[in-house]
Amino acid sequence: MRILVTGGAGYIGSVTAALLIEQQHDVEILDDLSTGHRAAVPPGAILHVGSLRDSDLLGRVFARSFDAVMHFAAFSLVGESVADPLKYWRNNVGGTLALLSRVAAGGAARFVFSSSAAVYGEPDRVPIAEDAPLLPVNPYGRTKLAMEQALADAAAGGGFAAVALRYFNAAGAWQGRGEDHDPETHLIPNLLRSLLLPEATFTVFGDDYATPDGTCIRDYIHVRDLAEAHALALAALDRPGYTALNLGTGSGCSVRAIVAAAARVTGRSVSPPVGPRRSGDPARLVAANDEARRILGWQPLRSDVDTLLRDAWSWHRDHPRGYGD
Ligand SMILES: NC(=O)c1ccc[n+]([C@@H]2O[C@H](COP(=O)([O-])OP(=O)(O)OC[C@H]3O[C@@H](n4cnc5c(N)ncnc54)[C@H](O)[C@@H]3O)[C@@H](O)[C@H]2O)c1
Repeated sequence: MRILVTGGAGYIGSVTAALLIEQQHDVEILDDLSTGHRAAVPPGAILHVGSLRDSDLLGRVFARSFDAVMHFAAFSLVGESVADPLKYWRNNVGGTLALLSRVAAGGAARFVFSSSAAVYGEPDRVPIAEDAPLLPVNPYGRTKLAMEQALADAAAGGGFAAVALRYFNAAGAWQGRGEDHDPETHLIPNLLRSLLLPEATFTVFGDDYATPDGTCIRDYIHVRDLAEAHALALAALDRPGYTALNLGTGSGCSVRAIVAAAARVTGRSVSPPVGPRRSGDPARLVAANDEARRILGWQPLRSDVDTLLRDAWSWHRDHPRGYGD
């Protein structure tokens, strides 16, 4: 298939683009490199450098239609979205509307959207199923929900097949591509960097939650397993319509369990200090993933905590300061 990957220079988009190329698809990437890295773009992909919000560029990219669009491009820092919400509405929602206009005008028959567990906010029931209330608690999550709603409407009106994949906590690395955000807000890269760089620090945010060891529980999903779900979605999107699917393992892992796994995998002693809670962190976020298994035929194969940590550690050891651009 001929596939457009927006945000394909970013963490999850670049791993997915590499997998699609491995599977013999023709991949074009549209990325403004605002948070992505040229070095992450897989050889074999055509790279268009620029923003989704550049309508001339979008016109050139869509001069020929695609079989599928995979839309990863977005800003995704929760704290920044609180400080500068319109930056998020302009880029995430504005960019998505521009893209959807091209797709609905015949630009692609299939659309895969990077949504997030953030659309659920702080759920009453865990594991979280797709039909749980959608009550995001920050502007980032609200832009993701708005994009899902726009996508559902556009797919119904434009006659294309769409799926929103709600990722839980992406982690790990795959074949030379890993996690390099600035600032980095994610647990595993921050923990591993603190073992590699003298200036990097790591703190456990609270150990007085209502969980067995007192630390927050999250559902970590290997970036290669996320990429696989996107590849499987191509076959599943065989008729117009819209659906939303969780991508998580279905079982959670506490911060302390991640710290213990980091010690096992790195062979180092890891005993980070415990600080106060970070505001807005729910105790437990875990996905129900039965729908993704059923509809996509997907199985997370690399998301056990030791494999995740081993793959991430190998990447961070090779790239202690990220891609270095
Ligand atoms: N990392 C996670 O744990 C996680 C969890 C849930 C959802 N998501 C979503 O998955 C997607 C990918 O996340 P990531 O961690 O790979 O992020 P990332 O920042 O590494 O990648 C995003 C990419 O999009 C590009 N981009 C942003 N705005 C653009 C625009 N207007 N035009 C063109 N390119 C643009 C950036 O340069 C970057 O390469 C995002 O939509 C994110 O919200 C990520």
